Amino acid sequence: PRYFALIPAAGVGARMAASGPKQYLKIGGKPMLRHAIDAFLFSELIAHTYVVVSADDPIIDSIVPSHGVTVLRCGGATRMESVRNGLAALAPTLRENDWVLVHDAARPGLDEALIEKLITTTGEHPVGGLLALPVVDTVKRSIGGELGTLSTVAREGLWLAQTPQMFRYKLLREALSAARDPNQITDDASAVEALGLSPKLVEGHPRNMKVTLPSDVRIAEMYLATAQP
Ligand code: C5P
Repeated sequence: PRYFALIPAAGVGARMAASGPKQYLKIGGKPMLRHAIDAFLFSELIAHTYVVVSADDPIIDSIVPSHGVTVLRCGGATRMESVRNGLAALAPTLRENDWVLVHDAARPGLDEALIEKLITTTGEHPVGGLLALPVVDTVKRSIGGELGTLSTVAREGLWLAQTPQMFRYKLLREALSAARDPNQITDDASAVEALGLSPKLVEGHPRNMKVTLPSDVRIAEMYLATAQP
């Protein structure tokens, strides 16, 4: 089988409050998106990497390596639309049974070991799979949107979804075209689950955290400076 990487990188990073789009923020001197691209370039299992950016992205060409990566300028208004548009653009290139690993540009801590763990653990699964971490905190739900009125969600069996999330090209396209509300579908697995299918959970690593808030930058830099396990 062939494995491809697709990195949606068309977000604006509103919660980061940075001067430019979050994916270009430097972590340890290198743009976040480039960290994600490099992880796939270093993995011998990945046939090719695709990056989805918005049509008017002025920065991508200056940070993308000259080999192994293709830029698709078809970003949408939500992550789900960016992935959907990217997959549509690959119709002439990908086969139905090819695997696509979708990975957030905002996770600079991905490494080859995690990519290969996901692929070797999921490669035979009929649906696909994703990296995830068991929830360690006690989780509260505010009732009726009111802060202060809480119930506790049993922690057992709860996982935090990470990326990459890998699915066969045809299934992922179908799942994303069937999805109705782009704001509800915040990852690829949820679109597949909405078809009644159960993706496999593969334990990820804290270093593969998502950089969302300004305070996350220092933490991500600490992980990158730490020798990989
Ligand atoms: O904002 P958030 O961190 O949840 O975004 C997750 C990923 O989805 C990021 O890599 C971001 O660039 C991407 N995205 C996108 N198109 C959008 C919104 C987000 O490709 N319209």
